[in-house]
Amino acid sequence: MPGVTIKGLTKRYGDVAAVEGLSLEVQPSELVSLLGPSGCGKTTTLRLVAGFLRPEAGEIWVGERCLSSPTGVVPPERRRMAMIFQSYALWPHMTVAQNVAYGLRLKAGVSKTEREARVKDMLRVVQLGGYESRYPGELSGGQQQRVAVARALVVEPEILLLDEPLSNLDANLREEMRFEIRRLHATFAITTLYVTHDQGEAMVISDRVAVLYRGRVVQVGTAEDLFQRPRTRFVAEFIGKTNLVDGVAVEPGVVARGSLRLRVAVTGLKPGAPVAVSIRPHEIILVTGDRATPPGHNVLTGVVQRTSYLGDAVDYQVRVNESDVTLRVTAPTSIRLRPGVGMRLAVAPEACVPLIEPEEGRP
Ligand SMILES: Nc1ncnc2c1ncn2[C@@H]1O[C@H](COP(=O)(O)OP(=O)(O)OP(=O)(O)O)[C@@H](O)[C@H]1O
Ligand SMILES: [Mg+2]
Repeated sequence: MPGVTIKGLTKRYGDVAAVEGLSLEVQPSELVSLLGPSGCGKTTTLRLVAGFLRPEAGEIWVGERCLSSPTGVVPPERRRMAMIFQSYALWPHMTVAQNVAYGLRLKAGVSKTEREARVKDMLRVVQLGGYESRYPGELSGGQQQRVAVARALVVEPEILLLDEPLSNLDANLREEMRFEIRRLHATFAITTLYVTHDQGEAMVISDRVAVLYRGRVVQVGTAEDLFQRPRTRFVAEFIGKTNLVDGVAVEPGVVARGSLRLRVAVTGLKPGAPVAVSIRPHEIILVTGDRATPPGHNVLTGVVQRTSYLGDAVDYQVRVNESDVTLRVTAPTSIRLRPGVGMRLAVAPEACVPLIEPEEGRP
């Protein structure tokens, strides 16, 4: 399977740039998610890759072939790609088998016997063996989704494009289908672009995640990269919960706010520069009474403002005495502190991550 290279892609609607200078490299057989809020350009990017739209600038390459540029666009049917739409777009008047066979009918050189065998095989792969003669209206949402997947895969595309394929499903089924998509990807190893606005879904399904913001990719990485080493404010807040402390670098590895001094994960900061530091709520340790703080940690003092019991953890808001900052802390239920109680907070320098790009995607 070839990879996909997107270089400086731009698509405008009137004055609005839906996609603006977007670049992304997808390795052969890799599954990359495009993750971002509504309106950030995910669907537009996918439609550009599929060949439904012509870019104003930039290029899309699949392996050694340039498929899109401002001067020419290879039409969708000649791209060896399959796209699954949010609505599944199944034909209601065709049975499951007919829906899946549809793409194969358009393909030259596939006999009726071969077509029937491939449809049967594919329905077995998506665990719909025996449903051949049902109509889409007689299937659950998850089953319809699997028919759409079967229909896309049966033509043996080189590239698979999925636009929020699970958003019509209820929460439980959605979670189940995430693993189903992962399993199919492991079986067929088709290079895949997967659009979602759900960060949990992106993290479970993808080899890597590309975070989109206002028509461009602001950071690409594994789920772990993005969670532990966000580069921008937007990524830090979009991927999981976090605390952002706005301060000033006072040493190459120290950020200050008020009398608060935080030793941070990197040491290349320029003294005097404004720096935002991201600290995940579960990385902060609450230390009460005369217990020792863990060695090497930043130690702050604070007062509990509010607590919320979450069942498996307790969520605290703690006012830090050394500054005007209030931190969210997720602590185990074995510690129970009431509002007004004072304590120390310990946080390892490695858990204090300075954001190195002040403005999204524009270092
Ligand atoms: N045909 C169109 N004409 C004019 N503007 C459009 C058109 N299609 C998209 N846009 C605009 O381009 C921007 C990006 O739209 P796009 O559909 O790519 O977003 P998205 O990330 O897929 O959002 P969602 O998560 O809501 O599906 C939006 O501001 C949208 O209003
Ligand atoms: Mg969309």
